Amino acid sequence: MPEKKKKKATTLPGYVVRNRASWTVSNAEYTAGSAHDSWAAKRITWGVWKVPEDEIKVLPDVRGLDVIELGCGTAYFGAWLKKRGARRVVGVDITPAQLATAREMNTEFGLELEFIEANAEAVPLPSASFDLAFSEYGASIWCDPYLWIPEAARLLRPGGELLFMRNSTLEILCSPDDAVVGEKLIRPQKGMHHNTWQDEEGGGKSTVFHISGSEQFKLLRDTGFEVTDFREIFAPVNAVDHPYYKWTPVEWARKWPNEEIWRARKR
Ligand SMILES: C[S@@+](CC[C@H](N)C(=O)[O-])C[C@H]1O[C@@H](n2cnc3c(N)ncnc32)[C@H](O)[C@@H]1O
Repeated sequence: MPEKKKKKATTLPGYVVRNRASWTVSNAEYTAGSAHDSWAAKRITWGVWKVPEDEIKVLPDVRGLDVIELGCGTAYFGAWLKKRGARRVVGVDITPAQLATAREMNTEFGLELEFIEANAEAVPLPSASFDLAFSEYGASIWCDPYLWIPEAARLLRPGGELLFMRNSTLEILCSPDDAVVGEKLIRPQKGMHHNTWQDEEGGGKSTVFHISGSEQFKLLRDTGFEVTDFREIFAPVNAVDHPYYKWTPVEWARKWPNEEIWRARKR
């Protein structure tokens, strides 16, 4: 009798299913509406305060590179890199609604990005097929770091680079479950890994991941990366409160960094 083919596990972890539901709602509420302006933007900017790349200069020269965005959302960041000369940009996201917006923008702007609906912790693409893997608040906070960082390492060619933005450790430690970030440490740093938050009233729950700086550094080293840059991002003096991301008041982020960018090279 022929041996039965082993089926690959296709079940998504519970937090991925929850987060996909949450991002389906966010797409309808605001990301689809803001995608066009983001794709059309002339300047590359980072994070909630839109810190200009030409001021912080953290990106490598992407001309001719094969790039993968892990948790691409509406894929405006990938679009910016394609406009800067990346050869190929692939966006991976788990939420069909986000990808539908990304595809719509891609058609409108004619940038020929490619999209894959998948969990960024297990991407159905061959190993060593990219020069740059990046995430701006995608896999960098919505995926388990112990799964997505090794997956990024697998997808990269030797010498390839990983670049990602996430919240700062300090911000997470000072963030209550149900109110804006404050000036007190209210969570233990030891053992930090993920939190499950209640979305807006009446909504579901979503799970975000964050390990401490030294754990992040160790994980990168253990998965074959050398950390080459690390930036802590504050709100610039002229920044104003974000229109819909209300968890970090601009006043807080003028005093403490609420975001950070990591850059690492695969050995
Ligand atoms: C904040 S968006 C990131 C994209 C963009 N830079 C931005 O700031 O809008 C987060 C994206 O991560 C996606 N995401 C969440 N969990 C994911 C997972 N396990 N695999 C792939 N994408 C995921 C969500 O669907 C969402 O589109």
